[in-house]
Amino acid sequence: MTASGLAGRQSHANVRSPFVRLTELLAGLEPGKPLINLSVGEPRHPVPSFVAPVIASNIAGFGKYPMLRGTDRFRSAAANWLGRRYRLPRAIDPSKEVLVLNGSREGLFLAGITAKRMLGERGGKPAIIVPNPFYPAYGAGAEVTGCELVALPAWRENHFIPDYDAVPDALFGRTIAVYLCSPANPQGSVLPRETLERVIARARKHGAFVFADECYSEIWLGDKKPVGALEACGSNYDNVVVFNSLSKRSNLPGIRCGFAAGDEKFISAFSELRNVSAPQVPEPLQEVAVAAYSDEHHVEATRRLYREKFDLADNLLGKRFNHRRPEGGFFLWLDVTELGGDEAAAKSLFKDAGLRVVPGSYLARADKDGKNPGAGYIRVALVDDIKTTEEALTRLASFGK
Ligand SMILES: Cc1ncc(COP(=O)(O)O)c(C=O)c1O
Repeated sequence: MTASGLAGRQSHANVRSPFVRLTELLAGLEPGKPLINLSVGEPRHPVPSFVAPVIASNIAGFGKYPMLRGTDRFRSAAANWLGRRYRLPRAIDPSKEVLVLNGSREGLFLAGITAKRMLGERGGKPAIIVPNPFYPAYGAGAEVTGCELVALPAWRENHFIPDYDAVPDALFGRTIAVYLCSPANPQGSVLPRETLERVIARARKHGAFVFADECYSEIWLGDKKPVGALEACGSNYDNVVVFNSLSKRSNLPGIRCGFAAGDEKFISAFSELRNVSAPQVPEPLQEVAVAAYSDEHHVEATRRLYREKFDLADNLLGKRFNHRRPEGGFFLWLDVTELGGDEAAAKSLFKDAGLRVVPGSYLARADKDGKNPGAGYIRVALVDDIKTTEEALTRLASFGK
């Protein structure tokens, strides 16, 4: 592997929130126009109409402690949804292969700790491989377990897909987990089936886990559904765990409900750790999830809304900032070199155009030569209604002209 192939590799993860850094960057500045917040990946589409009645009719459930693993109804609903959504080698067993989570974030963090407890030191300092840029929870797991965080860069030239094949065997041999994110936050790239198959095969060969973050799986912007890691598993789910949630799929980021599914031994060890460390998910909210996973109409409406917003982006931005429509997710990943780089652009867009966006370098790691694959980009979340999104894109398209 080349030196640049291991960008961001370092022993001390020290993960910081990009939003805290953004607040520091913008401290003392006032938005030059009515503020539009495009920084947080929080869908602001309507909450589905079934949510309130389901909560109302299950209100008594708030009066007791829930079981950590989730209700039978929840686990079956998640397993059935996986079976309908993906072409699976065999049905997921809801009693052994599914675990309810308070959204995927806490699961993605605690999964790293579980992997370390299960695999420990395997021939050297344990490593956790993440894409670069990456969702901070992956790195936080590496940090608290003292693992080496290996951040594989995703460049435009490689369609924003990290080169997993370039990871040397010696490194894979001490790797406890490989995090994947497809569709990717922030670039919206989707991992091809062959890439998933190769990563899974290598992880199995070396005894590592694959943690596939699929929380954007339902927001695809072309006509192809993203392939899921469970579909690329062959005849069993060994070493593979997928994470998903209602936050993006059902516009319910505030309900904090999701799941992990896959490798039975992992799910068992994960439950044990979470049984002594994680909050359980309230049962009325699991009932909302049962309703949500049983309905695709609201998900189709959501996808239509995102497509409409990306149509607007295509029309208004054209090729400006090297815009290209992503395959999935709801972010624009824009090259703002012409505005003086990502931090300078985030500041001036806020100060002069009232747009709050995230500097790309805050979402990624610099390698030992200082190269950061997020530098020069901004992340723009298209999470508002159409009218607000159109206003934001109009300001963005004319900015600096
Ligand atoms: C890539 C990625 N993974 C995981 C999450 C966590 O989402 P949640 O905990 O709401 O499921 C997010 C949220 O923004 C995300 O962007």
